[in-house]
Amino acid sequence: MQDWSPAEFEKHGAEVLAAIREHFEQIRQVPVSRPYDTRVLLEEFEGPMPDDGEEFTTILAETREKVVPNLVQWNHPSFFGYFPTCASFPGVLAETVTAALNVNTMLWKTSPAGSAVETVVLRWLADLAGYHTDADGLLLGGASLATLFALGAARDAALGPEVREHGLGSAGRLRVYASDQAHSSVEKSVIALGFGARNLVRVPSDAHYRMRPDELDAALRRDLAAGAKPVAVVATVGTTSTGAADDLAALARVTERHGVWLHVDAAYGGFYRACPSLRDRVEDVRVGDSLVVNPQKTLLVPLDSTALFCRREGALAQSFRLVPDYLTSERPAAFDYMDLSPQLGRGFRALKAWWVLRTFGRNGLTAHLERSVEMADALRESAAAHEDWTVVGTTPYPLVCLRYTPKRDGEPLPRHARDQLNAAIAGAVNESGRAFVSHSVLRDGYVIRVAVGNARTTPADVRALWRLLTTTAEAQYADQRF
Ligand SMILES: Cc1ncc(COP(=O)(O)O)c(C=O)c1O
Repeated sequence: MQDWSPAEFEKHGAEVLAAIREHFEQIRQVPVSRPYDTRVLLEEFEGPMPDDGEEFTTILAETREKVVPNLVQWNHPSFFGYFPTCASFPGVLAETVTAALNVNTMLWKTSPAGSAVETVVLRWLADLAGYHTDADGLLLGGASLATLFALGAARDAALGPEVREHGLGSAGRLRVYASDQAHSSVEKSVIALGFGARNLVRVPSDAHYRMRPDELDAALRRDLAAGAKPVAVVATVGTTSTGAADDLAALARVTERHGVWLHVDAAYGGFYRACPSLRDRVEDVRVGDSLVVNPQKTLLVPLDSTALFCRREGALAQSFRLVPDYLTSERPAAFDYMDLSPQLGRGFRALKAWWVLRTFGRNGLTAHLERSVEMADALRESAAAHEDWTVVGTTPYPLVCLRYTPKRDGEPLPRHARDQLNAAIAGAVNESGRAFVSHSVLRDGYVIRVAVGNARTTPADVRALWRLLTTTAEAQYADQRF
C-alpha cells in the first residue's frame, strides 16, 4: 500500500479539522474526566495489529468514539489540575506542519531555517522571561530533561573538562542543593547523573515554602568543610505544590559567595514577570546561571515545549558537544543544536512556539496570564471569606491551594480525618466530570490544588468550580465518615 495521495490527505485533513472544531465547540458538554478501569480500557483496544491497512474513516471514527472520551480533557475550560497545558489553535496547526516537514534540527546543515527559527524563538522566550537574550539555549521535551542537562553542565563546570575523560571515579562527594519543595525532577536528575539521591541536600523552606538562604549557606559551609564538592543549587520560581518562589537575589548572594552554579527551575513561574501588573511581585531570574521555562505550561504552546538557557557561555557545549565524522558540515556553523544536549535527532519544536508567539504577541500572552491571575485571585477571595475553608501558601501565580477545614463540636478535625475528607472532596469533584483538580501534601497536610491557566476558562467557570467544591465538601462531610 502506498501513502495517501495529496488529494486524499486534503480530504482526510478536512475531516480531522471538522472533528477538532466540533470537539472544541462541544467541549463544555463533555466530562473533563471519566472514571476508568485499566483492564476494561485495555480490552477495548486489545487485538493484533492489522495485516492489511484499514480505512481512515474507521480509524478516525474509533479515535472519536473510544479514545477521546477516555482521555482527561486537558484543554477543557474546567481543567484545573497540575499545571494546565493549554494548546491554542495556532499551536495545534503548527504541529501538523511540523510533521509534514519532518525536519531534523540537529545541525544548521540539516535544517537551516529550523535552527534560525529556534534561535529567534529562544531570544523571544528569554526576553519574555526577563533572562539574558544572548544566553546559550535550546528547546527540549520537558523541564525534567532541562534540569538533568543543566546539572550535567554544572557538574562539568565544577569538576573541569577532565571529567569527560575520566568520569566520576575520583570526584568525591558531589552535592546538589534544593529546597524541600523542589520538583521531583531534581532528585531524578541527581540519581541519573550518578551523584546518589543522598547527595541531594534538601534545604528547609520557610513558612511560605521558600528556600531558606541562611540554611543553604550553612549546608554549603558544612559540606565544604567536610571536603564535599557542591555542584549546583536548584532554586524554584513557582513550586509545584504551592507556587512559592524562592528569593533568587538572596540565594544568588550565597551561591556567588561559594562559587556554586545556580540553576533556576521557573518551569511554571517563568513568564509572569512579563506582565506589567505582576512585575514587582515575581522574582528576577537573571541571576540564574541556567534557567528552565515551560511555554507548554503557560504560553498556550502545546506539549511539549521547554526552553533551557545557560548564561555561562559555552558550558552546555563543553559538556555535550561530540561530533562524529558523519555529522561534520562543509560550512560549519558557530554551533549546532545537537551540541547543547545529549540529544542528536530532534524535531522542529520551535515552529509551534513561533506561530503561537506571533499570533498572540507579547500583549496577548501577558493579558492571558493576567486574566488567569485575576480568576485565581477571585477564587482565593471566596475561599478566604468562607469560615470552613482555608487558603494555604502564598503565591503571585494563578494556583490556589485550598483545604476544607470544618469544625466538629467547635473543634478542628484531627489531621488524618481532615486529609481524608479533602482527598474525598477532590476525588468526588473529579468523578463528577464537571471539573478536574489535583492535590498536594504539604507539611501540614493535604491540599486541593486549583491551577487556572486555560485560555477558554472564564470567571463563570471558576465560580462554578467554587460552587462544586463547596457543595461537594458539604455532602462529603455530611456523610459522617470523617
Ligand atoms: C516546578 C516544576 N519543575 C519541573 C517540572 C517538570 O516538568 P516537565 O513535565 O516539563 O518535565 C514541573 C512539572 O510540573 C514543575 O512543576
